[in-house]
Amino acid sequence: MDLKDKHIVIAGGSTGIGFEIARQAQLKGAKVTLLGRSAEKLANAEKRLSSPATYVQCDIGDTESAKNGFEQVGEFDYFVSTAADLTYAPLAEMDTGAIDRMLAGKFWGPINLVKYGLKNIKPGGSVVLFSGLAADRPAPGTSMVSALNAGVEGLVKALAVELAPIRFNSISPGVVDTEGWAFMPEEDRKAFFASLETSLPARKVGAPADLADATLFALQNPYLTGETIHVNGGGSLM
Ligand SMILES: NC(=O)c1ccc[n+]([C@@H]2O[C@H](COP(=O)([O-])OP(=O)(O)OC[C@H]3O[C@@H](n4cnc5c(N)ncnc54)[C@H](OP(=O)(O)O)[C@@H]3O)[C@@H](O)[C@H]2O)c1
Repeated sequence: MDLKDKHIVIAGGSTGIGFEIARQAQLKGAKVTLLGRSAEKLANAEKRLSSPATYVQCDIGDTESAKNGFEQVGEFDYFVSTAADLTYAPLAEMDTGAIDRMLAGKFWGPINLVKYGLKNIKPGGSVVLFSGLAADRPAPGTSMVSALNAGVEGLVKALAVELAPIRFNSISPGVVDTEGWAFMPEEDRKAFFASLETSLPARKVGAPADLADATLFALQNPYLTGETIHVNGGGSLM
């Protein structure tokens, strides 16, 4: 798949899956723009990429910041959002700051994209938003995460119809080894990943490259819209 002359914008592209999407897109010839809240993380990410990239400091969940960010981005072909700042805790005990940060990435971000960003999408363009396995397999402490991921999956179906012919799809990862797990003490994380390597049908924890591959497919396949692709090692079967 050749991405030469295509401009791909990745909200959340400074770390994890978003960074790997940026890396793979560049290798296929794309021009890449990264969006994120931390200028330092964006600058570090740009240094780690093999070719120069543009980056724009922007909270996609904040109206003014998103408006300003999309102005700076200009025209683009493809938009991906992996943006997420998640807290795992019982909903009744969760403070509103944590809830707001979760809503910013996964709820307000896509809304701001539609309201302020899509006027700059080129003909033939498409969008991929990130959901997650918790939408289908909730556990205690995942109520917000489950609800937001299910919301993303519902939103891509509705937007695929409302804003056709722009294509909207979502990717639902299972557990993927990224900076997103940094909240877990290293020993616990290692034990958790090791248990998945023996129990998951795919016998592995997800790598960012597994998700980047699926994302580039969803962005470019002209007959795919309104779908969620589950890339979870068989996690939804357990
Ligand atoms: N990793 C997994 O196991 C897993 C499992 C299921 C689903 N997922 C989903 O897959 C996606 C990517 O996960 P990941 O592990 O790669 O995440 P990650 O490494 O934690 O990266 C998240 C990125 O989002 C950015 N971000 C957060 N809030 C933002 C906002 N309001 N505006 C702009 N940027 C924002 C962060 O940068 P700043 O802090 O600089 O803003 C960061 O670069 C997420 O949607 C996640 O829910 C991941």
